[in-house]
Amino acid sequence: MRVLSGIQPSGTLHIGNYFGMMKPMIAYQEKAELFVFIVNYHALTTTQDAQALRQNTLGSAADFLALGLDPTRCIFWVQADVPEVTELTWVLHNVTSMGLLERCHAYKDKIARGIVPTHGLFAYPVLMAADILIYQSNVIPVGQDQKQHVEVARDIAQRFNATFGEVFVLPEPEINEDVAVVPGLDGQKMSKSYDNAIDIFTDRETLDKTVMRIVTDSTPVNQPKNPKTCNLFALYRLFATPEELEALRARYLAPGLRYSDVKKELTRRIWEFFGPSREKREALMKSPDTMRDILRDGAAKARAIARETMAVVRDRVGLNY
Ligand code: ADP
Ligand code: TRP
Repeated sequence: MRVLSGIQPSGTLHIGNYFGMMKPMIAYQEKAELFVFIVNYHALTTTQDAQALRQNTLGSAADFLALGLDPTRCIFWVQADVPEVTELTWVLHNVTSMGLLERCHAYKDKIARGIVPTHGLFAYPVLMAADILIYQSNVIPVGQDQKQHVEVARDIAQRFNATFGEVFVLPEPEINEDVAVVPGLDGQKMSKSYDNAIDIFTDRETLDKTVMRIVTDSTPVNQPKNPKTCNLFALYRLFATPEELEALRARYLAPGLRYSDVKKELTRRIWEFFGPSREKREALMKSPDTMRDILRDGAAKARAIARETMAVVRDRVGLNY
C-alpha cells in the first residue's frame, strides 16, 4: 500500500499539528510505503516572499526530521524538485471540467478570507491531483478540509482512464476520525490563525508565558474542580501516561488544587517531551546541506517513479511522435 501526503511549508508548528497530523503520518513509516513531500509549488498560491518560502521549506524539513520522520523508511522530498508534476498538471487540466473546480470549498473559503483569487489558487486541486496520481498512490491521509480535493483527484483519474485507457490508480482519502481535535489556550480548536496555539519549537520563556495563558474557570483553590470540562486537563492528557492522568484527576476531585501548579507541570512536560526533537532540529538547522542531501535523495527516488508515469501519459495522449 502506498500512502502519500503533501505538507504546506507553513512556518511554525503547534502541538495540534503534531498530535493531529505529524504523529499519525510518521507512524505510517512502520506499516506502509510512505511518501511525504513539502508542497512549495502549492505555497506559491499564497506567498510571494521568495526568501520566506526558502526558509520555511527548510524549516518544515527540519520539523519533520526532528520529530521522527526517518528518510530511510520513507521517501521525503520537496515538490518542485520533481518538475514532471507540473507537466502532468497541464495534461490533467484538459480532462478537468470547470464545474468540478467551481464546486471546491477550499477555493471559496480562501477568497472569502481575502486571498487574491488567482488562476493558481483556482487550479490548486489539479496540481494536487497530479501530485497524487503521478506516484500511483493508494491512500491519502488528510484532514476533513482536504477530503474534497482527494475526491477531485479521483474524479480526474477516472476521467483520464476512461478517455485514454487505464493509467492511474484511483486514490482513496483517509480521514483519521480518532485523532481528537487538540484544544487551544481558549478551548477552541488550536490554530495558528486564532492566537491560541502552543508552538512546539519555541524558547522556554515563551512556552512558560503561553501555558500560563491557558483559560481555566474560577473555582476557588479550596474546592474540588471538574477535569471533564477543563481545557488545561485536556492538554495535560497529551503528555501524561494513563496512571499520571488518573493521579491528576484525583487531585482535581479533592480540594486544594492550584491551576497554576498544573500549568507549571504541563510546561515542564511539554519542554521535556519535545527536548530531543528540539536538539535535533537545532543541529539540522545548523547543517542545511545535510537536509538538502536527504531531500535530494528523496527527490531522485520520487522522480524515477514520476518519469515512468509520465512516459506512459505522454504516449497515451500522443505527445510523443
Ligand atoms: P492551522 O489551523 O494552525 O492553520 P493547518 O490548517 O495548517 O493548521 O493544519 C495542518 C495540519 O494539522 C492538518 O492536517 C490539520 O488537520 C492538523 N491540525 C491543525 N490544528 C489541529 C488541531 N487543533 N487538532 C488536531 N489537528 C490539527
Ligand atoms: N493541499 C494540501 C494541504 O493544504 C497539501 C497537499 C498538496 C497534499 N498536495 C497534496 C496533500 C497531495 C495530500 C496529497 O494540506
